[in-house]
Amino acid sequence: MKIGIDIEEVKRFSKLVKDTAFLKRVFSQNEIDYCMSKKNLSQHFAVRFAGKEAVWKAINSKKNVSITDISFKNIDSGKPEVYIKNKKASDIDISFSHTKNTVVAVAIVSE
Ligand SMILES: CC(C)(COP(=O)(O)OP(=O)(O)OC[C@H]1O[C@@H](n2cnc3c(N)ncnc32)[C@H](O)[C@@H]1OP(=O)(O)O)[C@@H](O)C(=O)NCCC(=O)NCCS
Repeated sequence: MKIGIDIEEVKRFSKLVKDTAFLKRVFSQNEIDYCMSKKNLSQHFAVRFAGKEAVWKAINSKKNVSITDISFKNIDSGKPEVYIKNKKASDIDISFSHTKNTVVAVAIVSE
């Protein structure tokens, strides 16, 4: 098993969420649509950014995966699932939590 964690401040994202080029460079269209549908969208973008870094830390032996190759889709229950290069990564689990100021993400890779 491998683990990765990341924490981010939401305020770092409050301006960035208005930068469409940044959003399209870093997030999948599904992630953009999900976050844009939420009231506190900066928190949802920030936690996904933290999630990408957490997953990257957990898998960083795989040098051919970059932060932008990692994305998340929420299933109906609300639980997020991990995708690498648009393919579901069933061996990687992610958990998100956010407050007004801070977000945190933890990733676990099973082996
Ligand atoms: C899941 C739950 C515990 C989240 O707790 P919270 O303190 O309100 O919020 P947190 O900031 O800690 O966590 C939010 C994140 O939890 C995750 N989450 C939501 N539902 C989840 C679930 N069923 N399993 C695992 N993770 C879940 C999401 O990633 C969410 O962030 P996102 O919307 O940006 O993806 C809470 O929503 C809950 O009790 N849900 C019960 C199930 C439910 O009512 N589902 C509704 C859809 S049927």
